[in-house]
Amino acid sequence: NNRVKIKALLAGDTIGQEVTVMGWVRTFRNNQFIALNDGSTNNNLQIVVELGQLDDATLKRITTGASLRVTGEVVASVGKGQTVEVKAKQLDILGDSDAEKYPLQPKRHSPEFLREIAHLRFRTNTFGAIFRVRHSLAFAVHKFFNEQGFVYLHTPIITSSDAEGAGEMFRVTTLPATNPPLNDDGSVNFKEDFFGKSTNLTVSGQLEGELGAMAFSEIYTFGPTFRAENSNTTRHLAEFWMIEPEMAFYDLEDNMDLAEKFIKYIIQYAMDHNREDLEFLAQRLVEEEKQLPQDKRSELGLIEKLEFVLNNGFERITYTEAIDILLNSPAYKKKKFQYEVKWGIDMQSEHERYLVEKHFKKPVIVTNYPKDIKSFYMRQNDDGKTVAAMDILAPGIGEIVGGSQREERLELLEQRMREMHVPVEEMSWYLDTRRFGTVPHAGFGLGFERIVLFVTGMTNIRDVIAFARTPKNCEF
Ligand code: 4AD
Ligand code: MG
Repeated sequence: NNRVKIKALLAGDTIGQEVTVMGWVRTFRNNQFIALNDGSTNNNLQIVVELGQLDDATLKRITTGASLRVTGEVVASVGKGQTVEVKAKQLDILGDSDAEKYPLQPKRHSPEFLREIAHLRFRTNTFGAIFRVRHSLAFAVHKFFNEQGFVYLHTPIITSSDAEGAGEMFRVTTLPATNPPLNDDGSVNFKEDFFGKSTNLTVSGQLEGELGAMAFSEIYTFGPTFRAENSNTTRHLAEFWMIEPEMAFYDLEDNMDLAEKFIKYIIQYAMDHNREDLEFLAQRLVEEEKQLPQDKRSELGLIEKLEFVLNNGFERITYTEAIDILLNSPAYKKKKFQYEVKWGIDMQSEHERYLVEKHFKKPVIVTNYPKDIKSFYMRQNDDGKTVAAMDILAPGIGEIVGGSQREERLELLEQRMREMHVPVEEMSWYLDTRRFGTVPHAGFGLGFERIVLFVTGMTNIRDVIAFARTPKNCEF
């Protein structure tokens, strides 16, 4: 198979060579010009067939969506929009596509329509670009941590603990086979259904990650996580991917430094390797925003926004400072916030977005949140009120990272777990990290789809994951 991918063909000096390409027809004009796409790039390859070269029956089968194998010579193109094209010598139709039934037409479809046919949407320019960028970001995650000497730890999907203590878990049950556990009334006992134990899908790999950090010093996880929060927003999924590094001998400051460096690294990687796709998405955004009133449009284009983030430090403020800024804001004075603002609140999206979009106009790291709105494992500060937490807020998105320095002091951790009704005895394995050679350590979780949203400029999280799982949405 001496097939050449279209991206490589267009990038190389291939004029005069005979090549074989395979892909799907995007358009066919004048019984002569085929725009062929193989997913390696949004740029279609023009295939030229001579008039009279193919019989009528074959010509009729070259329809949008049909798959082809073409062998021919690469020649300079006189047409607009491409430098080279392939003069077909041999053309085979690998798979027909009934033009009447094929849902994708060679025109612009809305993201809403494409969400309905998510199983085919990779074949559009927009989703081609999004998923190539997503791929690069994922690759860059591994590249970054590998270069830093972190060990990639695969933490379990099925677990018996609630890492966040928020109770937002999907329970794992097995289909009752011959002897399902029964309740007294004879009904199936789903509560203890993982071979007699109660389990759920993981909400975070952090706790297991901490075990790894206590041996390897620095680890990261990158896997699917699940949240049974019934929130139908453009930022929440029931199944999302999270990157969670965990580092021994790090304090909160080190944690922030790593997070900022990491985010910039993966954005830079996409800028270096997916320039065309990002430029396509930038242009798409411009078109999209033409429908909005002037003051609702982005101040910076997508590429400029990413460059700005790369070239500027993230703002770092405490939670207390954030609340002060909100209380002194014109938005607060004009009663523009829907939700209450006072020390102790869990900031709502409108508050976070005010801070990043209106006040600082750049990513912001907020630290030292009230302990009562954060998880049990966060390190308690000396003020007795706050914990060494950090959230990173991004323009247009809100929270993209949640993390903290961890409570490494056994007694304080145990006490906090009891206060927050976290089952101390069942989690004895976790407390072993504090019993045997405990050290200051820290970590964070980056919501992968949230950073993909940020980098692609898309606005709905359903459009940056291949098959979105949201309330009432799990067709396949
Ligand atoms: O803030 P969260 O809940 O933090 C944790 O899970 C920690 N255990 C992470 C750690 O310290 N190792 O979630 C982390 C990030 C959020 O900032 C957000 O970007 C993303 O995960 N996230 C979601 N993304 C999509 N859909 C959801 N339902 C999400 N919930 C959280
Ligand atoms: Mg959070």
